[in-house]
Amino acid sequence: MEDYKNFLEEILISKEDLQTRIAELGAEISKDYLGKELLLVCILRGGVFFTVDLMKKIDIPHVVEFMAISSYGAGARESTGDVRVTLDLQINIRDKHVLLVEDIIDSGLTLASVIERLSAQHPASLEVCTLLDKAARREVDVPLKYRGFNIEDKFVFGYGLDIDEFFRGLPFIGVVDLDKYEPAD
Ligand code: IMP
Ligand code: MG
Repeated sequence: MEDYKNFLEEILISKEDLQTRIAELGAEISKDYLGKELLLVCILRGGVFFTVDLMKKIDIPHVVEFMAISSYGAGARESTGDVRVTLDLQINIRDKHVLLVEDIIDSGLTLASVIERLSAQHPASLEVCTLLDKAARREVDVPLKYRGFNIEDKFVFGYGLDIDEFFRGLPFIGVVDLDKYEPAD
């Protein structure tokens, strides 16, 4: 994989702006779930950086579980809605206050399928916290309780989000210049 600087169009959200917003979300969540037992469900792999930083800003007792989803038959950059659970929750969420933590919502197909699946287990509540929202791309409605940033319809990477699995570890959100990026395959 080549250096990301070859196709970085711009830094859309800086490290500092990410952390400031995550602190605000953490405070809001701490207030809203006060007195309740909060269960964060991190959607792997993209949601992992956001989940970890968010947990540091949530000052009420909470636990975290992980779920991994892949969109079957998808091109590298689009959801098909044919969503497969590749790592399922290891606990029963009945009567739990569940907050799903996602990196980005694009078509909404991935999350809609996760919500449908988890609802069947009768949690006490089920809400969504996404770092990024590409609202213009939405195909199915998903109820969002917490949203870090609204972004335009651009392909972004860093801070959990990948380009062909690379660059998740960058501390900022960057925009890919698709004229300059050559997919590996
Ligand atoms: P959705 O099912 O279309 O909402 O797609 C959501 C998933 O697609 C996210 O969890 C990401 O893994 C991936 N995704 C969507 N947009 C981007 C992007 O701009 N960069 C990297 N991954 C993305
Ligand atoms: Mg994802």
